[in-house]
Amino acid sequence: MRRLQARWRMTALHVCATTILLVILTWGDVEWSAEGAFDPLIESAKWALRFLLLCLAITPLASYLGWTTAVSLRRPLGLWAFAFALVHVGYSLAQGDVLARWRPPIQPLFLLGGLSLAILTVLALTSMKSAQQRLGRAWKRLHRLVYLGGAATVTHALLAAATSKRMFVRDPQAVYEARLALALLAVLLIVRIPAVRRRLLPIFAPLRRPRSHDRPVPDPAPIPGFTPVLPVPSPPAAEPERLPIPVPEDEIAEEEAIAR
Ligand code: HEM
Repeated sequence: MRRLQARWRMTALHVCATTILLVILTWGDVEWSAEGAFDPLIESAKWALRFLLLCLAITPLASYLGWTTAVSLRRPLGLWAFAFALVHVGYSLAQGDVLARWRPPIQPLFLLGGLSLAILTVLALTSMKSAQQRLGRAWKRLHRLVYLGGAATVTHALLAAATSKRMFVRDPQAVYEARLALALLAVLLIVRIPAVRRRLLPIFAPLRRPRSHDRPVPDPAPIPGFTPVLPVPSPPAAEPERLPIPVPEDEIAEEEAIAR
């Protein structure tokens, strides 16, 4: 059942992401003179950032709200962020003189974009289970780089909104989304601090979904015309209501393994 649920979510994610990608690749125009505000270079960038933030939100959602089934989406969300980032960089490289942009002194906008791309590439290349097994404990440390990647991307987006003429002309509203992304990233980083987690977990306890093995198993429905040979045990005394238990990070990894 959990596998089925995970597959359903995964299929929905892939269908949505593929549709967005197709729209970006087929609509709009990167040329400044083109009419309309739909710029595939900027739209692919914004979707890369959205998928990255969604990917970063999965662990807090699992530990604070008990959405452990969503953990299986973390890897595909990260890979979609990488795919959209590649499309964005592809459009950008096709514009103007690339060598001139990468000749020192390199603008911070490009340095941060390059850093973000380098981190996402390393994470995508080591995201397979085989790499996880080969790298052991180092894998977890390496994948913490996703937070640096998130910070580099958000700063790159803020710089782009503040300094890029393209952004100013073709999508001046993007600055608000970049600011919102900064606020979201800050929240996602703060809620991961162990001291903050310890304080917040009891507050979120009433909202947390109990895990499947925390839920009481319902009595089987009686089968008409069937008399059990063994005496039916009397129902046990009412059990005190079980409070959902906070999900430790290790168990989130376990849920991920189940969902795969
Ligand atoms: C994971 C996400 C992202 C990555 C990896 C990334 C990476 C890069 C890189 C490497 C470049 C330089 C490419 C070149 O040499 O032409 C670049 C350019 C640029 N990026 Fe990003 N970026 C990301 C997200 C964003 C976001 C969210 C925005 C703004 C909403 C943005 C706006 C821009 C702009 C305006 C340029 C210059 C484009 C041009 O005029 O050619 N990027 N990005």
